Amino acid sequence: MEKGTLQKRIRGLLKEKNAILLVHYYQRGEVQEIADLLGDSFALSVEAAKTGADIIVFAGVHFMAESACILSPQKTVLLPRPEAGCPLADMITPGELAAFKKENPGVQVVSYVNSSAAVKAQSDICCTSSNVVKVINSLEGDRVLMVPDGNLARYAAGFTRKEVIPWKGYCPVHHLVTAVEVRAVKAKHPQAVFACHPECNQEVTALADYVGSTAGIIQFAKETKASEIIVGSEQGIFFPLKKASPEKTFIPASDKMICETMKLTTLDDIYRVLDRMENVVTVPEDVRVPASLALRRMLEASE
Ligand code: 13P
Ligand code: SF4
Repeated sequence: MEKGTLQKRIRGLLKEKNAILLVHYYQRGEVQEIADLLGDSFALSVEAAKTGADIIVFAGVHFMAESACILSPQKTVLLPRPEAGCPLADMITPGELAAFKKENPGVQVVSYVNSSAAVKAQSDICCTSSNVVKVINSLEGDRVLMVPDGNLARYAAGFTRKEVIPWKGYCPVHHLVTAVEVRAVKAKHPQAVFACHPECNQEVTALADYVGSTAGIIQFAKETKASEIIVGSEQGIFFPLKKASPEKTFIPASDKMICETMKLTTLDDIYRVLDRMENVVTVPEDVRVPASLALRRMLEASE
């Protein structure tokens, strides 16, 4: 079926079923085009918590759909491709977190939303890349454990007096770009500013004019006086960047920054799961209740 026709059919089905389509910035352009809400992990979790729709179709990865399910248990959450996971989220298991807590008794745990529901359930509070510093500073005590992203933990540590003890996880997409690559791109584009995601490693974030979430990078690109922007984030972000600032030039910090699981979801998948009500994401109540506390604490700390 032709793209435009399929997009119209999906929009029609969403209306008919009182469903909403939440889409992350790393999704394919044709999926981004028909979103009810297109956003970063934080904006999407806020919307998932407050929407009046009966059904949420999540064009993103598994932990995002799980968070929607945790925050809105009375709604049906569909994940168009059930195998769309996040390799970073898989870098800590509940058992590993239990052992990490045992090694650091009494220290509060901040879990990045890029984690499983079972890991969130063992955490005191969650965070996203846009509120990590606020979340850490909202806690009592002078030490925190941060899982699973070590790069995000080290980045946040630069903006708090607390000691941030990182887990050893990393996003394979953002960790991939090196300072050598960024310096080479900067040398080719001496007028350009550099914006990157805090999931990049410390040598890379040290070279940036702006570090922030995907929504933060899009906002920075709109506001900067520079007309050329080097971007250290997943390739999908170029679609909203060009849409928001068509007069500017965006240059990838590396051509290798593609999240394969984010790219799995197609328009066909969205149509099919909504039509057949397939791939319903569920979280058992004994996990959902403590995980929802950690997510709701994050939402409160971000107000
Ligand atoms: P944000 O949506 O918070 O920018 O995070 C990016 C990401 O890697 C999501 O998987
Ligand atoms: Fe996970 Fe990185 Fe892909 Fe985001 S970009 S879903 S953190 S692997």
